Amino acid sequence: EVENDCFNKVLGQPSFKREKRLCDIVEEVTLKDFETIRFLGNGAYGKVNLVKCKINDKQYAMKILDKEKISKRDKVENVFREKDIMFELDHPNICKLECAFQNESSLFFVLEYAPNGDLSGLIKKEKLKVELIRIFASEIINSLEELRTIKVVHRDLKPENILLDRNCHIKITDFGDSKKIDIDKVHIRLQRESFKPDVPYNENYSVDPEFEENFNIEPMNYEEPENEKEKNRERDNSFVGTPLYVSPEMLNHNLAAYSTDLWAFGCILYQCACGAPPFNGFTEQQIYDKIVNKKIFYPDFLDPVLKDLIDNLIQVDPKDRLGSAITKDNGIDKLKGHPFFEGIDFETVHKTTIEISE
Ligand code: ADE
Repeated sequence: EVENDCFNKVLGQPSFKREKRLCDIVEEVTLKDFETIRFLGNGAYGKVNLVKCKINDKQYAMKILDKEKISKRDKVENVFREKDIMFELDHPNICKLECAFQNESSLFFVLEYAPNGDLSGLIKKEKLKVELIRIFASEIINSLEELRTIKVVHRDLKPENILLDRNCHIKITDFGDSKKIDIDKVHIRLQRESFKPDVPYNENYSVDPEFEENFNIEPMNYEEPENEKEKNRERDNSFVGTPLYVSPEMLNHNLAAYSTDLWAFGCILYQCACGAPPFNGFTEQQIYDKIVNKKIFYPDFLDPVLKDLIDNLIQVDPKDRLGSAITKDNGIDKLKGHPFFEGIDFETVHKTTIEISE
């Protein structure tokens, strides 16, 4: 008997078979094919409802996006990017986009339904046990690995975007801020890294043109102008609060790379273990100051191996973050090799039994 899995790996095939989605089964899906069960929550451009599809009797989360709001905020491109990236992604720990359609006023994204809320709900109640953090962390790494295979940075990883499915395994969602990385820039970075002196990070909050040229990262509009923020707050009550998980390079240079998600990942692990995010404050400015100066406090009760992992992720210089290299053996595999993950089988972790005490 030949063991086929190892050949798949050698040939670089995905380790998870692509499942059929609603859009593969039904040629044209419309609103009439769904029955609304209840309201689930508010999104940036409208609400999310729990729906049942009359074609296959399955439940989905239907994200409704108001076309007028999208074009007023000049986010048409972002929404299409979100759709394309979510269709391309295919992983057990990433929320699948099953189909997308529109009517006169709205866009509809039909998503896998994750019935156990999100990580923010779980960590609000209590600190998580190290064993549970180990499973969640492994699954987040697996999802980040999938993002890298299609050269995507999420850019808005936070507990609210980490959903919990029926079996309490995680599903990353909300790719509204995500972006494809320009692979040519990645090469520029690799070639120049060896002789380029360290770039200072704490120079005001302006973009350093040399840094931008030499670093593998995409410019982004992180900050909404104050008046826009205010307007958005008024229009719907869904403005997402303080940016607790934003990385120093986004604040200092308005740039993001794969390693940007690693910073957020480190912050999320800290919050799971300690009960509060690592960089907090009363004003956004206070939070930003703590982030760019890495003013972090590690409590005594924190598991020392987990602390070491977190400290290797929360590094101000993106290149210093564990797993930041773009080569697999020096990047994601190095992260998987951290002692915190001893005993974890990354191929099967999404199938393990998770028990969460009420
Ligand atoms: N809220 C937003 N997206 C959701 C999803 N896919 N499942 C459950 N709740 C959600």
